[in-house]
Amino acid sequence: MTDNLAQLRERASGCTSCRLAQTRTNVVFGVGNPNARVMFIGEGPGKNEDEQGEPFVGRAGQLLDRMLGGINLFRDKNIYIANMVKCRPPENRDPAPDEVSECIGYLREQIKLIHPKILVCLGRIAAQYLITPDFKVTKQHGEFFERGDFLMMGTLHPAAILRNPGQKALAFEDFVGLRHRILELCPEVYEGIE
Ligand code: URA
Repeated sequence: MTDNLAQLRERASGCTSCRLAQTRTNVVFGVGNPNARVMFIGEGPGKNEDEQGEPFVGRAGQLLDRMLGGINLFRDKNIYIANMVKCRPPENRDPAPDEVSECIGYLREQIKLIHPKILVCLGRIAAQYLITPDFKVTKQHGEFFERGDFLMMGTLHPAAILRNPGQKALAFEDFVGLRHRILELCPEVYEGIE
């Protein structure tokens, strides 16, 4: 399985299916435990991620790591983090619908290979693509949706929280709810984690 994920990463690293390939520095495939039961999905890489080849490593990523740490989740231990699109949209614009349609297959394969129990969408764009097209992040953040084998939740994007720090408490409540679901459905996530 890890081998398959490595092969998929290799395939993505040479992808030229959309215009973002022309301006990227690195393909930002994903990071974390390939057997994670909990997966986080952002929108697309920004400048820092493009430079370093890893999702959520800029200021928003540092906030995300602090929030994750608050519920004992760590990118190098018990979760996996990826984005909907693997290459940086220039000037941090939203990914265009055709860019998402070209790229989403990689995410779908990642999800199939990792096979998490819980998927958390970071921000409106990921939640609208993956949970429901009319997802309203201000109203529906923190709600859990059953989708086949998966439980899905959308929460505020950490970059939105940086712009509006008043929302941090709301997002943290979502994380506390997430911790409850993990303990209920897949407590092994916390095995051996201090
Ligand atoms: N925002 C995202 O959605 N993903 C990243 O990897 C970084 C910032």
